[in-house]
This record gives sequence, structure tokens and C-alpha cells, in this order.
Amino acid sequence: MTERLIRNAGFEDAGAIFALVKEHPDELLPRPISDIVQNIDRFIVAEDASEIVGTVSWQILPEIGLASSPYIEIKSLAVKEGVRGQDIGSDLVLQAIERIRGLHPERIVALTFHSDFFAKLGFVEVPKQELMHKIYMGCVNCAKYDSPFTCPEIAMVLDAKGKK
Ligand SMILES: CC(C)(COP(=O)(O)OP(=O)(O)OC[C@H]1O[C@@H](n2cnc3c(N)ncnc32)[C@H](O)[C@@H]1OP(=O)(O)O)[C@@H](O)C(=O)NCCC(=O)NCCS
Repeated sequence: MTERLIRNAGFEDAGAIFALVKEHPDELLPRPISDIVQNIDRFIVAEDASEIVGTVSWQILPEIGLASSPYIEIKSLAVKEGVRGQDIGSDLVLQAIERIRGLHPERIVALTFHSDFFAKLGFVEVPKQELMHKIYMGCVNCAKYDSPFTCPEIAMVLDAKGKK
């Protein structure tokens, strides 16, 4: 039996990550391969029989001056269709949270269509207005919806304060 591995990504994984993100244009923002390579230290992958079957990434949201209230966003989460429902997505997010917690953020956030999935991992829904810096960074460039507030994605947060 082959072992499934959740591990930090390396440069050699960039092509597979690119393909996996590209397979989900309705749920995920596109990521150019150069962006994936440049941020490869912010990716975790799930490997099964030497194939990349899942990935997750994160980004630090902007702060003005010192990081008085740092937020980190989970992004580019995808698991191959044929292997869903086997906890790979959960394991990826849990490992990302473990890595992210080492930076001592106040909140870990996700904008998602799958609020149940994130709720099971401890995230709770918040109004998008609480995440204006995310909205300014990402959603402001979105061509799919006329406003972040009409976009059906749900804002979910995990309180990470005090859990260092
Ligand atoms: C969301 C996603 C990453 C979950 O991956 P996964 O490996 O199936 O997740 P897990 O097995 O750890 O968790 C399964 C749970 O997620 C939910 N789930 C899984 N696949 C789902 C899907 N396609 N749609 C909705 N919910 C789904 C189920 O409620 C399931 O709960 P259960 O265990 O009680 O049955 C995967 O469905 C996916 O890649 N979707 C397309 C891309 C996407 O939407 N990414 C998230 C953007 S924030």
C-alpha cells in the first residue's frame, strides 16, 4: 500500500500545483506559474503514489506599519476530484494552520463556497466588512461580480490569538 503524504512543497511541485489550481476556475483565483514558484515556501501539497493530489497555500494580509493585528488568508485549496472525501483537504488545512500559527497571527481567514468544510475545522462566519483589507487586495480586481458584497463566497475566520 502506498503512503499518502502531506508535506511542504518544493520547486519541483510547481507545475502540478499550477495544473491543480487551474482545474478549479469557478472556485479558485488563477495563479500564474511564476507566482507559484515565487511563493513555493507558502504551499503544502498532498502526495499519493508520487502524484500531487491536493494543495493549499496562504498569504499574509497587509498591515499598516507594525503587525498589530496580523491576518493570514488560506488560499488555493484544492483536492483532485477522484480522491475527495478522504480528509485530504482537512489535513492540508490543518497542516497549513500549524505552520501559520508559528507566525502568531490574530486571525486565519478564508473566503469560500464551502463554509461547512471550514466550520468543521473551527472557522466561524463573519461579515465581509471585517476583512476589508482582503477585499481591497483581491476582490477589488475580480471581474466576476460587481461587488465583493454580491459575491456568494462566505468569509470564515479562525481566531488564532493566544494560541501560540
Ligand atoms: C473543498 C475541498 C478542498 C475539500 O477537500 P476534501 O479532501 O474532499 O475534504 P475532506 O475529505 O477533508 O472533507 C470532506 C468534507 O468537505 C465537504 N466536501 C467535500 N467535497 C466537497 C465538495 N465538492 N463540495 C462541497 N463540500 C465538499 C463535505 O462536507 C465533507 O464532509 P464529510 O466529511 O462530513 O462528508 C474539495 O472539495 C475541493 O478541492 N473543491 C474544489 C476547490 C475548492 O472549492 N476549494 C476551496 C476554496 S476555499
